[in-house]
Amino acid sequence: TLQQINTVAEMREHIQTARMQGKRIGIVPTMGYLHEGHLSLVRAAREKCDVVVMSIFVNPLQFGPNEDFDRYPRDLERDRALADQAGVDVLFTPDVSEMYPRKILTNISVSNVTNPLCGRSRPGHFDGVATVVMKLFQIVQPDYAFFGQKDAQQVAVVTQMVQDLNVPVQIVPCPIIREADGLAMSSRNVYLTPEERAQALVLSHSLSLAEKWLREGVTIEEVRGRVIDIISEKPLAAIEYVEILSYPELEPLEQAVSGTTLILALAVRFGKTRLIDNWIGTI
Ligand code: PAJ
Repeated sequence: TLQQINTVAEMREHIQTARMQGKRIGIVPTMGYLHEGHLSLVRAAREKCDVVVMSIFVNPLQFGPNEDFDRYPRDLERDRALADQAGVDVLFTPDVSEMYPRKILTNISVSNVTNPLCGRSRPGHFDGVATVVMKLFQIVQPDYAFFGQKDAQQVAVVTQMVQDLNVPVQIVPCPIIREADGLAMSSRNVYLTPEERAQALVLSHSLSLAEKWLREGVTIEEVRGRVIDIISEKPLAAIEYVEILSYPELEPLEQAVSGTTLILALAVRFGKTRLIDNWIGTI
């Protein structure tokens, strides 16, 4: 049955016991308001691990001053029931003062992969992510950590960090989970009005078309232009970026991309809601 732990000390104690018993420990880091995307990570963790820890922590470090930290959706009771059903063993729910009892003076900053995409439009965001994820890894000492490709740049950042700093954890990327109509699941989808929700389908729709065009040999710049055009037709959509880059390096591609793994990544605002989606593949 699900155990909830709020303090670092208790979390360490619990993990120490599990480790002594030779158990494989997995972590699923989240900010809560759980949906099928999060729960798919739990299922992947369940398959590989004996003890599945899910953290729920809305991390102030990764939100910009004009972002939605204060209104980020939260519902711990609901999350607890969903986590329990999905097979989480330990729910780690520290509050902000437990994670940051004093001003934090140490920052984990990964370069290069954080330059484009969300790193460009959200300065400091990935420093906040890398720092909190490193703290979670130090607290939980997991053998495996599960991340969704919905946040593909985040996967690239965390993978680079654990390689660079020899963190003894294996990062397991998991596929994007979508609603039946194609919209990538996100805790932020609840912000969308019905009109915005309907128009937001253009994101997954344009990614499917782009995949088809790339496979047909349409050039990267042409595909990028077509995706921008399709999204721009939606009156409520404001494009932040549409980019095609190498993955996981996130570097610009010259043409002749055959055989290289690339990402088509986009961020689009609908009203005050910012949505991201991507397609990763080899053409
Ligand atoms: P959050 O947005 O809550 O996402 C937690 C995890 O769920 C991330 O690995 C994310 O990629 C994954 N996820 C979200 N939607 C998904 C979907 N539709 N399909 C598959 N996976 C999905 O990402 C964060 O929190 C934070 O940055 C965190 C890593 C917890 C650090 O604070």
